[in-house]
Amino acid sequence: MTVLRSPKPFLRALSGQVQDIPPIWLMRQAGRYLPEYRAVRAEVGGFLDLCYDPDRACEVTLQPIRRFGFDAAILFSDILVLPHALQQKVWFVEGEGPKLEPLRDASDLAILQPDAVLGHLRPVFETVAKLNAALPMETALIGFAGAPWTVATYMIEGGSSRDFAKTKIWTYRDPDSFQRLIDILVDATADYLVAQIDAGADAVQLFDSWAGALDEAGFRRWSLEPAKAIVEKVRARHPDVPIIGFPRAAGPLYADYAAETGVTAVSLDQGLPAEWAARTLPRDVVTQGNLDPMALLAGGAALDRAVDHILQAFDGRPHIFNLGHGIIKETPPDHVERLVARIRRATS
Ligand code: CP3
Repeated sequence: MTVLRSPKPFLRALSGQVQDIPPIWLMRQAGRYLPEYRAVRAEVGGFLDLCYDPDRACEVTLQPIRRFGFDAAILFSDILVLPHALQQKVWFVEGEGPKLEPLRDASDLAILQPDAVLGHLRPVFETVAKLNAALPMETALIGFAGAPWTVATYMIEGGSSRDFAKTKIWTYRDPDSFQRLIDILVDATADYLVAQIDAGADAVQLFDSWAGALDEAGFRRWSLEPAKAIVEKVRARHPDVPIIGFPRAAGPLYADYAAETGVTAVSLDQGLPAEWAARTLPRDVVTQGNLDPMALLAGGAALDRAVDHILQAFDGRPHIFNLGHGIIKETPPDHVERLVARIRRATS
């Protein structure tokens, strides 16, 4: 690993540099916990309209950077723009979350139009280019996509789900056609990430939010192998751009994911013991995480203790401070300020 001499602490950490003060950003840092986000959100119709509006998407991406000075900005978009770009029907219902016209069986795969993807997502690439020009030189820009397994759960369940029953039954009863869906998503996701990097993203993150729902064999086939294939395809075009994998709630399987996919870094959920991760994960894989989002919402001394525990556990390793999952919308912005100050030791 060559240690970068970059003005961006986030990229230095991803190149393996151990820093006294770890870089910090938060998953879902642009969002409804910020009043300035809610104001922009109110100007547009649907949530997807905001994702496809480069000026507004750029503005809401920058809001948390202005307020907190995070070390990285994450492109404002959503993982579900990919099934939308594949021409599946996707919409968001206020207070309910995402809805999709579900894929019911193998014959529905014919609906998907891989050739439409990059054209459909042009406004997103425009947002990336605008952000690349607008961000301070010390702030990195992260592009992202959902991992094939997590995106497939939304495509098959038709929205959020508690047990992923339809998707999991499909994998057990008809793995060949499920593999065809995963292959379509691997190719489209790799093309999508490459295009974000072409437009100016400094690094990319692959969100496998529901990896923890899989058994061991399922995890290998539907989470680890697709991630490995995506890493290979992205690296073929951009060998030096860091890739962060987030197989959320994968438990001990994080070790295999870190060792086998070729990712630069793994983002850890709060269920993973920090000391275990620091001791077990390969030294050449950078860690990111893993504060409980509820500790940030709660604030106070318990927040400080949880932060210090993470700093201590990853001391001596290249680490990026983050949450274990997205920020909760009821989180007081003051608590985020307190967190950043503590990481940067602006308080005692
Ligand atoms: O700030 C950032 O992190 C960048 C933007 C971002 C959003 N979604 C904006 C968003 C990112 C990286 C995502 C990823 C995403 N989207 C994931 C993976 C990470 C995770 O949280 O597990 C998933 C599973 C989704 C799908 C999704 N999008 C759901 C289930 C929902 C509804 C739940 C909710 O929080 O309301 C969304 C909507 C969504 N995506 C919002 C935001 C800011 C809220 C909707 C709104 O503002 O109207």
